[in-house]
Amino acid sequence: MKIGIHKIAFYIPSCYIELKELAQARNVDADKYLIGLGQQQTAIVERSQDIITLGANAASQILTKEDIENIDLVLFATESSVDESKAAGLYLHRLLNLRSDCRVVELKQACYSSAIAINFAKNHVKNTPNSKVLIIASDIAKYGAKSAGEPTQGAGAVAILISENPNILAIEEQTTFISEDVADFYRPTNCSFPIVDGKLSTTTYLRFFEIVYQQYLLKTGFTNNQFSAICCHMPYAKLGQKALLSQDVPQTILERYEYSKYYNKFIGNIYTGSLFLSLISLLESDESLQPNNRIGFFAYGSGATGEFFTGVLQPNYKQNLNQEIHQNLMKNRTKLTIDEYEALYTDQEIILNTKKHRFELEKIENNVRYYQKQH
Ligand code: HMG
Repeated sequence: MKIGIHKIAFYIPSCYIELKELAQARNVDADKYLIGLGQQQTAIVERSQDIITLGANAASQILTKEDIENIDLVLFATESSVDESKAAGLYLHRLLNLRSDCRVVELKQACYSSAIAINFAKNHVKNTPNSKVLIIASDIAKYGAKSAGEPTQGAGAVAILISENPNILAIEEQTTFISEDVADFYRPTNCSFPIVDGKLSTTTYLRFFEIVYQQYLLKTGFTNNQFSAICCHMPYAKLGQKALLSQDVPQTILERYEYSKYYNKFIGNIYTGSLFLSLISLLESDESLQPNNRIGFFAYGSGATGEFFTGVLQPNYKQNLNQEIHQNLMKNRTKLTIDEYEALYTDQEIILNTKKHRFELEKIENNVRYYQKQH
């Protein structure tokens, strides 16, 4: 039985900044951000959005009434949790009117938890035919104004519907993974921003890619040529390219990596959703891919875990993408000045004329979160 990605869409905040303007404000050569990191813009989250609304907005774009009736498991992957106890997916469960006999949990392991969600969802569908699993990967990446990580921030959510006979990508069985206690990036419960050893984080990412990729080739007997493309977790666009170059992959994989950063370089790091934003980028911008092509995935989560897995494109995958939705989201963003961004960042009063979202955070009162649906 084939199981995999039946539907996939992302959602983003409606504001962004230009990294060349951030570079100017920080007195840094713009090429460091644009070429050295490979990023051009960063999504900035407005006050009406949080990980729950981003996730609900992502999912509501693609779910039909029939999907809603068949979803019996929600896996909410995030490292920007709003609660130490209650799963963010429970708010989303109500906003999307999901059925009451639907399980809801939150998964955490930095950016990696969306990848294990794919694995859990696949096994769940295998054991429960006809069921559908909704994966939400939603995060707001903030390192602090004027920090080294500032140009690698971002925000957004990816919604993925996993089912039998998927329209887009069948997930294959084999996978290789690694876990190790590494102090490269972590956010203790009393900290608003992560503690980051930037250099260690990049060397661990590259080291883990080499290990899981080489183990995958050894385990499956595949050669480099059996992948049509490889999507990587993308904290910034340059790092995945470095990983691929380090393993001497064929030229076509390097060329297709360029397509896989299509949206990421304008949105930034969305942590758990980043790998799948890269898949959407690849599928929506690379016309040369064909059904039956095999895509490799490198998932990485600081702290640290890594995994390599694969999927095969399905016959009608092109007809089941959501380019128009995504292009409109990109087109309807408002550019903020660096002053406006800093005001928003530091919770100063600021009025922004940004677009309305279907789901918005109305207020937080006595620690209760109130949401509203616009239309
Ligand atoms: P930095 O120290 O500001 O930058 O930190 P740098 O000095 O390393 O420069 C960056 C690149 O720009 C270098 O290229 C420079 O040479 C180049 P490289 O040598 O690496 O190829 N450069 C220039 N290029 C052209 N023209 C110029 C110029 N100047 C310099 N004028 C760092 C960069 C990414 C470390 C920092 O932004 C940071 O700490 N970011 C956050 C952590 C991060 O993103 N780590 C990535 C791996 S960990 C990960 O992926 C997990 C994560 O998503 C979290 C999770 O799992 O939950 C982050």
